[in-house]
Amino acid sequence: MMMKEQLEHPTSIPFIEAKNIVAKALENYINESALSGSNVLIQQSPEEIAEALEIQNLFEKGFQNTHRLSSFITTYLKHSNHLKNPRYMGHQVAVPQDLSGIPDWIHGTINNPSSLYEMGPAGATLEGFMMNWMLRQLGWFKGTDLCDFSRLEKNGSGILTHGGSIANLTALSAARAAIEPDAWEEGNPQDLVVMGPSTSHYSIVRAISIMGMGKNAFVPVPVDENEVIITEAMEKVYSKLKREGKRVMAVVANACATSTGLFDPLDEMAAFCKKHQLWFHVDGAHGAVALLSDVHKDKVKGIEQADSVIWDAHKMLRVPALCTAVLFKNQEHMWNNFRQKGSYVFHENEVIGMDSMPYTVECTKSALGTKLFWSFALEGEKAITNFIENSFQQALDLYQYLNNHPDFHCPYVPESNILCFQYKPDQISDQDQLALRYELINSGAFYITSCMMGGKRYLRAVLMNPQSNSKDYVALIKAIEKNALKLLLEED
Ligand SMILES: Cc1ncc(COP(=O)(O)O)c(C=O)c1O
Repeated sequence: MMMKEQLEHPTSIPFIEAKNIVAKALENYINESALSGSNVLIQQSPEEIAEALEIQNLFEKGFQNTHRLSSFITTYLKHSNHLKNPRYMGHQVAVPQDLSGIPDWIHGTINNPSSLYEMGPAGATLEGFMMNWMLRQLGWFKGTDLCDFSRLEKNGSGILTHGGSIANLTALSAARAAIEPDAWEEGNPQDLVVMGPSTSHYSIVRAISIMGMGKNAFVPVPVDENEVIITEAMEKVYSKLKREGKRVMAVVANACATSTGLFDPLDEMAAFCKKHQLWFHVDGAHGAVALLSDVHKDKVKGIEQADSVIWDAHKMLRVPALCTAVLFKNQEHMWNNFRQKGSYVFHENEVIGMDSMPYTVECTKSALGTKLFWSFALEGEKAITNFIENSFQQALDLYQYLNNHPDFHCPYVPESNILCFQYKPDQISDQDQLALRYELINSGAFYITSCMMGGKRYLRAVLMNPQSNSKDYVALIKAIEKNALKLLLEED
């Protein structure tokens, strides 16, 4: 009897007690992160963190009591990047709502992977609902009721997957199945290529290489000084490919580009694809959300003409990583993608409409639909639209501050919530623009990123936190000025 109890509760930490400890620590974390002047990130080496967390000891002996559990959690949170801090302006990673973590907690407790309906009926149903909702945004849902999970004629289709990179791979694989159905069994013919802006996200080329086409099968189309595709150049690139005997498997568009946050002209690219009967893939990982706003919709005009779209919910839909949708205008394209059957999962009487496993790279996957649904359920659909409009406005506000300042250079007016800028580009080298970023993040006061654009180094702010405001923008300007002065003095 004793033995059994020990096996079931080796840590002896009661469920509710543990939950309360975690909840309290997270509440403190949220409150402290929001305090002005608190650190966004304290950079420390992995050795220092390992010691602070007492990793080795806990690994061997377990938590054993609530005190150790509590101290581990507090230390863990201390050594995290505080996205909840309004001065977090870094990567395109969602700043979740305070209660966004609950679906992960539920999933971690019941472990119902939703790729097989039988293994997670509630999660799979929520995924089906959210896919219908996303398809509706694109005009690809032909039903009236989002809870209609039947195979409606002329419907689009979609699945959730673990991240934009896998999503791009899934969509490009479907494009290959459409142009060369035998490739699944016979391998790739040598004449297939993919066209897209030279600034396509690296996961596009990675997907092409993983598919065995070789990275040279990506044919870059020139971009302008702000790294937006030059659509007029597409005909020339295409004619050359035709002369070389190549077949274009897909044309890829940025909506929006990772570094700049600017949108390719999707309607012009769609017209080009229609004219030449080419598969049109829109990488909407970050910017597909513009669809949800009457103010910003025009930026993705033409997206509805795509054959496939990817959309990261863990960027602008406030979902904790990872959760991405791959959406197809023509549902058969999803069904014809992966031509495999596994006897233990795809059996005769499968509830195929609700099993996403046949259409995903993953076999087992998390309850992604639950996380996505939760984001809306917390505050309602309108709150998400407000969040998107607010974050696009935040980037515009920061642009205005920087643009009115004689020492800052902003190369373009932001179209989303991503903004690139330089400080005194005539005096501060590329290397030193980067040094400015390191100074800033090493101080703990801000977290921003950086990127290359047109061969030059830029600082980059991504406004993901709804709490960031003018006070933070002014403080950012001051901190950069101070660090630059130090840098210039050191170099003298
Ligand atoms: C345009 C674009 N596509 C794809 C990705 C990859 O997405 P993930 O990080 O979810 O794999 C990103 C990531 O930033 C992106 O910006």
